[in-house]
Amino acid sequence: MQQLIAGNWKMHGLTGQLPLIEAICRASARSPADILICPPFTLIARAAEIAAGRIAIGGQDCAITETGPCTGDVSAEMLKDAGATAVILGHSERRHHHGETNAVVFAKAQAAAEQGLSTIICIGETQGQRIAGAALTVCAEQIAGSVPSQSHSSRLVIGYEPLWAIGSGVVPSADEIVEVHRHIRACLIAHIGAEALNVRILYGGSVNPSNAASILRLPEVGGALVGGASLAVTEFASVIQAVPCQQNRS
Ligand code: PGA
Repeated sequence: MQQLIAGNWKMHGLTGQLPLIEAICRASARSPADILICPPFTLIARAAEIAAGRIAIGGQDCAITETGPCTGDVSAEMLKDAGATAVILGHSERRHHHGETNAVVFAKAQAAAEQGLSTIICIGETQGQRIAGAALTVCAEQIAGSVPSQSHSSRLVIGYEPLWAIGSGVVPSADEIVEVHRHIRACLIAHIGAEALNVRILYGGSVNPSNAASILRLPEVGGALVGGASLAVTEFASVIQAVPCQQNRS
């Protein structure tokens, strides 16, 4: 399975940062991985024009409905129309700051799938849940509640992002990452069947040039979802360069 390195720009990026897209395209030209950048809505169309298919451009969220009186919302169809081919859904910042439940994420995933967008559905436990020994249960519940059971592996990606690792500089141990990723795979198989065998499971949370190589070599890790380090081309390029060739995967 080809790995996916996805950059999540969050609420960062003005037109002045658009040259970064060209720089990332160049940095990823010979990469064995698929590269995706998810800039804010306002930059998607221009980013897609610059990328011209060399890397994929995606959204960070989409609405449940296609059109209607939903002030401030952006539909999956609008993302597609602007040149996006993918969308991040259920990021913990959406779940926690905007009260998005599993049911909301599920409905958004269905809306995105109807438009043919690839979806990166994010899951992950809080620090309290990890300490309480509930990390695996939380991930299982989020998969069961957020992932449509008809999902096709070519358009479904899971992002495992423990909340305590996001933007904190703290990363779970290799054993912890592998344990959760294996569990996610098992939950996905139970939920969507054999399709799950080809779904990429990304690790996200404080991925940077110094830890990327060791994380990306772990079994069941299908790539990385990168926040902060996707905003500087040298850092993001180093993460891309850390992608192992197929034969070096454990
Ligand atoms: P981070 O963010 O790499 O800055 O920790 C990851 C994310 O929230 O997707």
